[in-house]
Amino acid sequence: MQPENAVLKNKKIVVVGGSSGIGYAVAQKAMNAGAQVVIASRSNKRLSTAARQLGERVQREVVDASNEQSVEDFFRRVGHFDHLVVTIKPQLPSGRFLENDVDAAITAFDAKFWGQYRLAKHGAQYIRQNGSITFTSGIASRRGYLGHSAVSAMNAATEALAKAIAIELAPIRVNTVCPGFVDTEPPTSGRAQHVKTLSPTLPLNRLGAASEIADAYLYLFANSYSTGTVVVVDGGAIC
Ligand SMILES: NC(=O)c1ccc[n+]([C@@H]2O[C@H](COP(=O)([O-])OP(=O)(O)OC[C@H]3O[C@@H](n4cnc5c(N)ncnc54)[C@H](OP(=O)(O)O)[C@@H]3O)[C@@H](O)[C@H]2O)c1
Repeated sequence: MQPENAVLKNKKIVVVGGSSGIGYAVAQKAMNAGAQVVIASRSNKRLSTAARQLGERVQREVVDASNEQSVEDFFRRVGHFDHLVVTIKPQLPSGRFLENDVDAAITAFDAKFWGQYRLAKHGAQYIRQNGSITFTSGIASRRGYLGHSAVSAMNAATEALAKAIAIELAPIRVNTVCPGFVDTEPPTSGRAQHVKTLSPTLPLNRLGAASEIADAYLYLFANSYSTGTVVVVDGGAIC
């Protein structure tokens, strides 16, 4: 257990997407820093597995960010809190632009972009003084990658939304973390094999770890003068 961090002691952090990957790493770091943490996602089974690993202090809640009623009910159950983090990752289309199924791209956009939109819209009224919202985009927002057309669009839209609502929701701070390629999937998955081939193109010559990306969210909880900004953690991908 790490020492408790005064900034997060007794703070309540809500992580939608907290049952795995980057969101799970944020939940773990926030708990180690003394926060009360709520992890949320669609699958109760995945949440239970994550909660068993995180320990009994974590609260878990089912929510589907694609469904507005589910989002409203979720925040009513959670009540007031300090920081909202969204790390939703839907099934992302990875084919070439001309071959992609448009409906699959729209469904993914609906979960990732509109999911973050719905969560910010309905969660804002429950955020306490000095609180914040942190979205998640991804490096395809600022660099072209083969097979990432839909992903690029939803990530860029996420960063633009955060900037716009940072003005309207102030003093609530609204920021985005933009991860590079992260080692979050089983090594045998097709995506893991694909992103591994990108490692040698990075100055740091390796994929990121979820815990390295999670540090950026903790920075944004703590830094009271950051809003409307994007923190890129990408191993140098955009050098
Ligand atoms: N991993 C990378 O290399 C990478 C790179 C750049 C950007 N990113 C971005 O970073 C974020 C996290 O990625 P990750 O790899 O950590 O993802 P992950 O491990 O697949 O976790 C995604 C989380 O989202 C939840 N989720 C999916 N759809 C949802 C919905 N409609 N409503 C509520 N929860 C939902 C999942 O749980 P349920 O299935 O239970 O709902 C899970 O908890 C994503 O926005 C991703 O695009 C990741």
